[in-house]
Amino acid sequence: MTSAGDPRPVPSTTLFEAVGGEPTFRRLVDRFYAGIATDPLLRPMYPEDDLGPAAERMTLFLMQYWGGPNTYSAQRGHPRLRMRHAPFRIGPAERDAWLRHMRRAVDDLALPPEIDAALWDYLERAAYFMVNVMEDPAAG
Ligand code: HEM
Repeated sequence: MTSAGDPRPVPSTTLFEAVGGEPTFRRLVDRFYAGIATDPLLRPMYPEDDLGPAAERMTLFLMQYWGGPNTYSAQRGHPRLRMRHAPFRIGPAERDAWLRHMRRAVDDLALPPEIDAALWDYLERAAYFMVNVMEDPAAG
């Protein structure tokens, strides 16, 4: 038995819709890339002078992942994100810097706690998965 007043922690819509669709993902990624633009460790990793195209790829990917339109795959094919990150040296420091900017960007959205938690859990696991240099070579 349910009534209109029952708590419903899991929305019956996609997360894409629940957060407000494309404008919300654009705000998230714009805020994130504003942080990347000033980051001394991460900014030099981005091959293009203009971060706009990279931000667009990230926006389309996240929208698709969370149930929005499949524009990312239409333009870029299968995500294969770990493979696409292989050219970049991503160790714990890069991962943590990436997550720091992303955390600020997610905070700016002020999402309901359960939606924030779902989004953050994914982003954190994905960032750990992207690490391809486990140790400082000097550590032996
Ligand atoms: C862990 C630290 C990470 C670093 C240092 C990093 C860095 C980079 C760099 C340098 C690029 C190339 C920029 C470009 O598109 O031209 C890139 C692309 C991309 N990254 Fe990351 N990334 C990280 C984690 C992640 C995570 C966790 C995700 C997804 C949740 C992600 C999603 C993407 C996407 C979608 C692209 C564009 C792929 C394409 O279509 O070519 N990245 N990343």
